[in-house]
Amino acid sequence: MTDSAQVARQYSSTSNLATRRGVWGPGPEGHSPADVLRDAVLAAGRGRRILEIGCGAGLFARSVLDAAPGTQYVATDLSPAMVAATAALGVPAQQASADALPFPDESFDVVVAAWMLYHVPDLDAALREVRRVLRVGGTFCVATNGERHLAELLRDAGGEPVVTQFSSENASPTLRRHFDDVTQRDIETRATFEDHDAAAAYLASFSPTLAAALPVFDGRRRYAGHASVVTAH
Ligand SMILES: C[S@@+](CC[C@H](N)C(=O)[O-])C[C@H]1O[C@@H](n2cnc3c(N)ncnc32)[C@H](O)[C@@H]1O
Repeated sequence: MTDSAQVARQYSSTSNLATRRGVWGPGPEGHSPADVLRDAVLAAGRGRRILEIGCGAGLFARSVLDAAPGTQYVATDLSPAMVAATAALGVPAQQASADALPFPDESFDVVVAAWMLYHVPDLDAALREVRRVLRVGGTFCVATNGERHLAELLRDAGGEPVVTQFSSENASPTLRRHFDDVTQRDIETRATFEDHDAAAAYLASFSPTLAAALPVFDGRRRYAGHASVVTAH
């Protein structure tokens, strides 16, 4: 979804994001993509200057600062509600669009974009901005989902896989348009829904039509998710 009005509606409060975030746990290899992303961010940015774009409710930023106090972290998001939620966690936060970053050239050692580049209408403009604000030799740390992400749940509800402009399938070639050295790690994860209503609520957070079409089932269900963490220099 890149339509600006739809994106603004989707993230006008933190509730849709909170509904989706709560169901995820590690996959068969025991890793969650957010943990792999945090490790990459800490390896490149501990104690240094980090910018996050599309920070959502600020939980990732807070976890980095908890692990590495003294790091200079600036979290940004297009949504005022997300900026307010992030600031409420004690993380320096300000409103900014990924394609017009209000920072000087080469002002960060690390830039983080977690599950947000599929929403930016002009993806190359945003990647140029990231390149501009990163110092030479700095690291861009990215997470996104694959086209098979939750495909079985979507199919159970009569839907199609979600194909985006920035997915596991196209992230690396897209980043290579702007960065020389790109490394991608694909990670399987698991969503646990305690009952049908929990799965329907997840779907309703982005598609009430799919939520209404999900056949009733008894008991708990688990579905596979597919994500990737990519680093670029
Ligand atoms: C799927 S959420 C991910 C939030 C957070 N990174 C996380 O992993 O929980 C996408 C976020 O990107 C933000 N966003 C969407 N388009 C944006 C843009 N053009 N510039 C900055 N933020 C944007 C949304 O407001 C939302 O908070």
